[in-house]
Amino acid sequence: MKFFIDTANIEEIKEINSWGVLDGVTTNPSLIAKENRVFEEVIAEISQIVDGPISSEVTADLCDEMVAQAEQLATINKNVIIKIPMTIEGLKAVKILSAKGIKTNVTLIFSVNQAILAAKAGADYVSPFIGRLDDIGSDGMELIKELAQIFKSYDMKTEVIAASIRHTEHVHKCALYGADIATVPYKVFKQMTKHPLTYAGIERFKRDFEGVKSKGGF
Ligand code: G3P
Repeated sequence: MKFFIDTANIEEIKEINSWGVLDGVTTNPSLIAKENRVFEEVIAEISQIVDGPISSEVTADLCDEMVAQAEQLATINKNVIIKIPMTIEGLKAVKILSAKGIKTNVTLIFSVNQAILAAKAGADYVSPFIGRLDDIGSDGMELIKELAQIFKSYDMKTEVIAASIRHTEHVHKCALYGADIATVPYKVFKQMTKHPLTYAGIERFKRDFEGVKSKGGF
């Protein structure tokens, strides 16, 4: 499973990238707004830090406007992927962009049917939002499980990005169920590194080694 980070914060991206685990970045208008900077500048900076797909979202409602925005965003860097919302206009835009060789990530996916339509229209990625499904009492992980199964059985090229991840158990289940990619918030990346037995083990090794050190050596 590949790991993307779901943030527009440069420091967070740099830190997780330095761990050697990062395959790409996803942003959305809300994440960009938090940074309080010029949109295109943020995307340009991110696209130079991470050598992988960087999702940048259009905000228009109509197909032609989405395509125009997408074409502009795609000029920022060759690794910029265009995030298109899952609407009928969005599907039309995906078809046009795909024919032009511009890669797309269809976002705000909440059902298998939406994901299949986006894939058929030519999306390179689909982003089911698991946390937001959990929020309304639905089962986000079940959607990932079903999509992984369906896309595999039809040998679909579209990759599933599990998005709206809220905790480490989501990441664990994404790997178990076969998501192609998990886009993980910074806080969850940090939580993934931790286990109480790891820290207890380090402390014990250090304590036990004190006696060995007193015998010399380096
Ligand atoms: O980037 C899209 C998605 O990951 C948003 O997550 O936490 O706002 O539901 P969230």
